[in-house]
Amino acid sequence: MKLLHLDSSILGEGSVSRQITASIVEQIRKSDPSIEIVSRDLAADPIPHLTLASLPAANPDARADLAQFLASDIVVIGAPMYNFTLPSQLKAWIDRILVAGETFHYTETGPAGLAGGKRVIVAISRGGHYGPGTPAESLEHLETYLRGVFGFIGITPEFIAADGIALGADARSASIEQALGTVSSLAA
Ligand SMILES: Cc1cc2nc3c(=O)[nH]c(=O)nc-3n(C[C@H](O)[C@H](O)[C@H](O)COP(=O)(O)O)c2cc1C
Repeated sequence: MKLLHLDSSILGEGSVSRQITASIVEQIRKSDPSIEIVSRDLAADPIPHLTLASLPAANPDARADLAQFLASDIVVIGAPMYNFTLPSQLKAWIDRILVAGETFHYTETGPAGLAGGKRVIVAISRGGHYGPGTPAESLEHLETYLRGVFGFIGITPEFIAADGIALGADARSASIEQALGTVSSLAA
């Protein structure tokens, strides 16, 4: 079994999503000590913006990120909300893995995912609250985007969210504690 661990927070040691992904990876490692783990820090080692020359469909040398994703059984992703959506570092990775003919294809009845069978667990951290009925609900373009993108390639992701991180020290620590509690009850 292979696990790909991706972090994209720019906040280093203070990052909430990094704390949660570390806990998820540790939890999975405990239940399968032989699991092969590859960790990537997309903030420290960013993937360049997509260009015509680096389109994976056009350039066989630009398929390393796609190949690594395809070889993984489990992908754990740290996804903080920046400006109502995902960090551009994480978007750059997604740009490398959504490849027609590899992770999805077009059929007579529309697009169909080809990457089903993988487990994707996303640790989300958000400064505010975006749930149904909240004033900022319509600005939620992180979880909805990732659910849509992974659904497009045939994967139903699992989400663990820490919300209200910017709403004071108490709210922050309660939210992190709740998210870490959810990690401990993750299915093996
Ligand atoms: C550049 C930047 C932009 C942010 N934009 C938003 C935002 O649009 N909405 C929100 O609720 N929180 C926002 N936040 C707060 C973060 O979502 C929150 O601090 C979260 O913990 C970030 O995850 P991280 O700690 O793993 O980096 C922003 C934080 C930063 C640094």
